[in-house]
Amino acid sequence: MTGQKIDGTTVANSVKDLVRASVAELKKEGVEPCLATILVGDNPASSSYVTSKQKDCADVGIATKDHRLPQEFTQLELDSLINLLNNDKTVHGILVQLPLPKLLDEFSTISRISPIKDVDGLTPYNVGLLASGRAILKPCTPLGIMELFDYYNIGLSGKNVIIINRSNLVGKPLYHLLLEKNATVTTCHSKTKNIKDQCLNADIVVTAVGDRTRFILTADMIREDAVVIDVGTSRINDKIVGDVDYENVIKKASYVTPVPGGVGPMTRAMLLKNTVTAASISKGFVTNR
Ligand code: GUN
Repeated sequence: MTGQKIDGTTVANSVKDLVRASVAELKKEGVEPCLATILVGDNPASSSYVTSKQKDCADVGIATKDHRLPQEFTQLELDSLINLLNNDKTVHGILVQLPLPKLLDEFSTISRISPIKDVDGLTPYNVGLLASGRAILKPCTPLGIMELFDYYNIGLSGKNVIIINRSNLVGKPLYHLLLEKNATVTTCHSKTKNIKDQCLNADIVVTAVGDRTRFILTADMIREDAVVIDVGTSRINDKIVGDVDYENVIKKASYVTPVPGGVGPMTRAMLLKNTVTAASISKGFVTNR
């Protein structure tokens, strides 16, 4: 029996339909949801991600302000721009595309974003709320993965979950979201010994390495009927591939996300959802209770 492909594009489209309806409702209330994006430097991958985010917003009726700044942009100039956007009542969400050029301080930059406009859920305030189970704005990739579990009725309570990633964007926030759902969560990383043994003990494996020269999740590393979520993206011969040996893993797993078409579209859809949430917060429509 072969496993089922998790169709992130279809689920993302259903999320986008809901977001589109919420945007229309907000507009009736006189709120025009608006996302400001900031890209510093000319990293081609980052530039294309930001362009996609702008297009996604247009697709659901969210307005955007696109700030593309030169590599030499200073910390002081970046701080002033964020201050300006924090105080701009027409802007509901602020996204600083990462990574920033080396001379800029990522932590202090992100920390400056107003927590109620923090559509990436990365400010220390929102990270603290997430760890306390009270966050409203949560990081988009983990949120998208949780939505996939929900859509496919994949139970989490009591399940052993391995996350191969410890970043602020993916591994750490996903750990908290899974714990909230009563999963037993283990975080693995480059210094973890015997990742294969860890994976073989898991009902669910989430991998987000993004470098196939260092790591590939192969069929011998998973249990029969495991759920496999692939967050990795690497470019090989101009083709985007994930961490997972998809063709073989799907023969043994119960569910697998493909790359592309799995977690990626969900991450993008969750940014739209968070922007609508931020616009709702600006009107006092949302609480975290
Ligand atoms: N760079 C790669 N992924 C992300 C993301 O989700 N948000 C931001 N701000 N930058 C990123």
